[in-house]
Formats: sequence, C-alpha cells, structure tokens
Amino acid sequence: MTSDPTPSTSRKKMTLPRFIAQKANGKKITMTTAYDYLWAGLFDEAGIDSILVGDSMGMVVQGHNSTVPVTLDQMIYHAEMVVRAVKHALVIVDLPFMTYEVSPQEAIRNAGRILKETGATAVKLEGGEAQAETIRALARSELAVMAHVGMKPQSHQLLGGMGRIQRNEEQLLADAHAAEEAGAFGIVLELIPAGLARKITESVSIPTIGIGAGPHCDGQVLVGPDMLGLTPGFQPRFLKHYAKLREAAIEGTQRYIEEVESGQFPDDSHSHE
Ligand code: KIV
Repeated sequence: MTSDPTPSTSRKKMTLPRFIAQKANGKKITMTTAYDYLWAGLFDEAGIDSILVGDSMGMVVQGHNSTVPVTLDQMIYHAEMVVRAVKHALVIVDLPFMTYEVSPQEAIRNAGRILKETGATAVKLEGGEAQAETIRALARSELAVMAHVGMKPQSHQLLGGMGRIQRNEEQLLADAHAAEEAGAFGIVLELIPAGLARKITESVSIPTIGIGAGPHCDGQVLVGPDMLGLTPGFQPRFLKHYAKLREAAIEGTQRYIEEVESGQFPDDSHSHE
C-alpha cells in the first residue's frame, strides 16, 4: 500500500511550524516540484507535505539548459497557479538567479513580491555562508526562507557542471550552520555524500531536505516530472521513477491518432442525438 490512507478532506494544512516540527517528531518530510495548477493539485491530493515551485522550471517547462534564464515575473506567474490548486501542502518558491544576490534589500523586495502576489508561504535561495546576511535580512523581515546548499544549479558554471557531487565537508558544514544561525527554516542539501548529509542533519535543529544526498536527511525532494518518468534521458543515480508517464502519454496519444484517422472515434456513444 503506497497511497496516503488519509482522505485529502481530513488532512491538516501544512504550516511552517508543522513542517519544522516533523524533524523533532521523526516524520520524514515529502517534497516535490510543481509549476502549474494541474500538477500541483495532483501532488496535493496525493498527500505531499510540500510543493516547491522550483526554478528547475527553466529546464523542465521552458526547455533551457539551465535555471539561469528564469525571471522573477515567471516564478510569480507559475507560483500563482500552484497556490490556486493547493489545499494542504506548504508552498515554497525559488528566488531565481540574480534576484537576491545584489543586496539584502533587493532580496527583501523580491521575496516580498513573491509572497504577496502568489500567496505562497516561503521562498528558497541558493547558498549558505555567502548568503547569511541576506537570509538574516529576510528572516528579520518575517519572510520565511529556506537555504539550498551543496550543488547549486544557479552556480553550475562555477561548479563545472550540473551533476557534480559536492564534497568540501568543511565548507558544506559551515554553509548549513550559517544558514541555520541566520534564520533559515530549512535547508535543501543537493548532491552531497550521504555520510556528510547525515552529519549536517544531526548538527542542525532545522529540517534538511535531500536530493541526491542519501537517506539520512529529514526529508526528500525530487523534481516532479523526473519522479514520474516524464523527462526522457535523465537518469542520474539519485533519481527513482515512481511511474512511467511519458510512455503512457505517448501510447495514449498514438491510440487517439489511430482511432481518429480510422474513424473509430468518435462513435455513437461519444456523439449527441
Ligand atoms: O529548482 C528546483 O527544482 C530545486 C530542487 C531540485 C531542490 O531547487
């Protein structure tokens, strides 16, 4: 039995305090990404704890080869659709590239726009120690912020590529501790060794959410379309497919084409008198 036995109508809304408390309660946090009303509604109904409107949208939805081109207005447009669909999950929205790096003031203005215009609960930014001043400024302005440490896709040029495991233990521990100390409510750990992710998870009081960071994090996130087998040719070691939706969608579309071309569809049962 893999589906959530709790009917979606009786599930409690995931609030920030509840999200944070899951670490102390030892209940793993589940997170996936969504970028529109259709998919966000589906993940929410399935019982996911949290939906990230990730700037992975730049690759998955927009077809770019990195997250860098995504703009603030695009994030807001997509986050609005997600929030409209969600009844229970906590919605977190990525601050895209160059919307928080210039100054803490600009980060506050842009994070404020996201939360005010979309109704999402929190924002996420990439960085730990180097972004501590900005995380602190956001937290002091009562804007809930999550940090993202390890492989930071917005910095993929500096890291030498998207899929590189990050192994600088001293720096990654410093990043996680700086993010916590500055007021982040959680930390995404991307592509770091499992043992190091465990060390970080055990040494911070806020939840860690892993992607390619092994089983010891407080929760896990996968990009929604990757998890459901919709992104062809993308098969990193950390990714597990929980469905084969691409094959199912292509097969269904091919049957539709065949039936229209052969005159099988629509038949009398799909026609009006
Ligand atoms: O943009 C994104 O989808 C993310 C996740 C991979 C954590 O940041």
